[in-house]
Amino acid sequence: MRIPGSFGGDVQAGLLAHRLPLGRNRTPDSQCEGKTVLRKPKSVVGLDIGSSAVKAIELKPAGKGHRVVAFGSEPIPPNAIVDGAIIDAGAVSDAIRRVLESNRAFKTKEACASLSGNAVIVKKITLPVMTEAELADSIHWEAEQYIPFDIQDVNLDYQVLDPGTGPDARGSMEVLLVAAKKEKIADYTGVIAQAGRTPVIVDVDAFALQNAYEINYGLDPNKVVVLMNAGASAININILQGEQSVFTRDVSMGGNAYTEAVQKELDLPFEAAEQLKKGIPVDGATYEEAQPILRAVTENVLLEIQKTFDFFKATAASDQIDHIVLSGGASKVDGFHAMLQERFSAPVEDFDPFKAVTWDSRKLGADSGSIGATAAVAVGLALRRVGDR
Ligand SMILES: Nc1ncnc2c1ncn2[C@@H]1O[C@H](COP(=O)(O)OP(=O)(O)OP(=O)(O)O)[C@@H](O)[C@H]1O
Ligand SMILES: [Mg+2]
Repeated sequence: MRIPGSFGGDVQAGLLAHRLPLGRNRTPDSQCEGKTVLRKPKSVVGLDIGSSAVKAIELKPAGKGHRVVAFGSEPIPPNAIVDGAIIDAGAVSDAIRRVLESNRAFKTKEACASLSGNAVIVKKITLPVMTEAELADSIHWEAEQYIPFDIQDVNLDYQVLDPGTGPDARGSMEVLLVAAKKEKIADYTGVIAQAGRTPVIVDVDAFALQNAYEINYGLDPNKVVVLMNAGASAININILQGEQSVFTRDVSMGGNAYTEAVQKELDLPFEAAEQLKKGIPVDGATYEEAQPILRAVTENVLLEIQKTFDFFKATAASDQIDHIVLSGGASKVDGFHAMLQERFSAPVEDFDPFKAVTWDSRKLGADSGSIGATAAVAVGLALRRVGDR
């Protein structure tokens, strides 16, 4: 969706869950001797600017699917991004520049990034049935009552979930409303520009996750699937019912909570605690000493997840959860997967963002398995195309 003037340039707020499959996304370019010439929409680099690392992916269409042409990851120094806010723009743009310049296979200048946490508000709203044009005219006004910020300070996007025109319609339609703070969008697009790339779409972590899931697993109309991406500072949760996102929330807890607990309890520096948490031996403490600390933090994380599920169940028509699909670096913490499965009595599956996206280990020089956990959001972002709304 193009929001006039909001970025003072060509950046779109592609703040939508829905991505058109490539084949259908082709737009007529020009008429040539009576025939319509189709121009292939240009791809983008998917840039997941996480608080612990930037992950970048470029995809190319291959047959009916996609293949990875370039992948890279670069660490971001601690405290350069805090609670989704870019504190040290220089350090973040340096990391973006390094990840893209260290690999010549990244050819595309245009990039798609994403926001999460309190920079974004996602709400399902009910409105009287109206046409697309009427909705486009009134959404700003309608949104004012749902957004706790000055409407001038946010960019809006929306998607009609239920047009309210079916046989059991009751005169109302359901719309997914997404608002993102302009200031945060400017921070993220700013660091990309500073790194010499062109930011063209700003998405939302939870929706990028959904697009990556859809392309790899398809959507089952009868299932409730929880997508859970546990990063360093937050856990993005997106609950899908059939083809729709029915609930999203970012829990502000993640891998850092583990590192900080290990650091404090075992009196270790940050870097050593970060290593030990992953099972890598360090001087001054053993993994056996760290394990009960990790379990205690997981207990706290599960309590937060429980609150989110309770909230979902209280607001949704159904309280079933068929399975949980887990990604993000913090999902690798010892015992996390098993404790999650046990607590919610739902099967937990590791998200493989390269299940249906071709990964050629010989060309890429690495195995997809080792990076799959942290690559899901970047894959979802790389699926977008220049000009997507
Ligand atoms: N093997 C592992 N065991 C435990 N933790 C791990 C492991 N590998 C990575 N992590 C942790 O995962 C986190 C990084 O994951 P990820 O890249 O998904 O986060 P991010 O996108 O940078 O963060 P966010 O989205 O929350 O800002 C870090 O806290 C890191 O310590
Ligand atoms: Mg992340």
